[in-house]
Amino acid sequence: MTTTPPTELSLEARLKDEILDMYREVAEHPEKEFHFFHGREAAEMLGYDPAALDRAPAGAVASFAGVGNPHLRAALAPGERVLDLGSGAGLDALLAAWRVGSEGRVVGVDLNPTMCRKAEAHVGAAGGRFECRLGRMEEIPVDDGAVDVVLSNGVLNLSMRKRRVIEEMHRVLVPGGRVSIVDIVSARPLSESVAKDPKLWAA
Ligand SMILES: C[S@@+](CC[C@H](N)C(=O)[O-])C[C@H]1O[C@@H](n2cnc3c(N)ncnc32)[C@H](O)[C@@H]1O
Repeated sequence: MTTTPPTELSLEARLKDEILDMYREVAEHPEKEFHFFHGREAAEMLGYDPAALDRAPAGAVASFAGVGNPHLRAALAPGERVLDLGSGAGLDALLAAWRVGSEGRVVGVDLNPTMCRKAEAHVGAAGGRFECRLGRMEEIPVDDGAVDVVLSNGVLNLSMRKRRVIEEMHRVLVPGGRVSIVDIVSARPLSESVAKDPKLWAA
């Protein structure tokens, strides 16, 4: 059995608190300034269809905080079962729910109870079939082989245990399942001061 050194553990716990605080703000006060692009401006910049953004609940669009567009390569089809990892306020989950239709299903997983509540309200109001499960991407609360496609938008970079998250994605996918991940990658190793600062990491 491998154990995480205590210092890593406390850094991960502090990172979780930072992430909870930051995304609660994004969920409840999307009108505020953040140090990352968010809302409609970000979604349009990343190639989301403006007509779909018009149709989506305003709250899902305003609190969108993705870093790319996982739908461009996901090729979702009617009837598929989708997991949206770190589903936030639900914009990606809603677009997926529209694509898979009433025969498919979308499950979201998010650390943040405020985000989970908002995502369910937003997707439900727009006629999508969706359930948000409160949980962590490092221990995805989904059965083995239960989904056809995993989507994730700007979430993996927030984990200190990325290999574990990838293993979890594989566990929940059916054999031959697909992933569409968009994220931030640093071409250079982060400096010690950045890597050990939960505020910067959460950012
Ligand atoms: C960049 S946003 C996702 C954007 C979202 N797909 C949308 O449509 O707006 C990141 C989300 O990941 C969640 N998150 C961060 N760390 C997480 C973790 N370890 N497990 C699950 N969710 C996490 C945050 O609470 C936040 O809601």
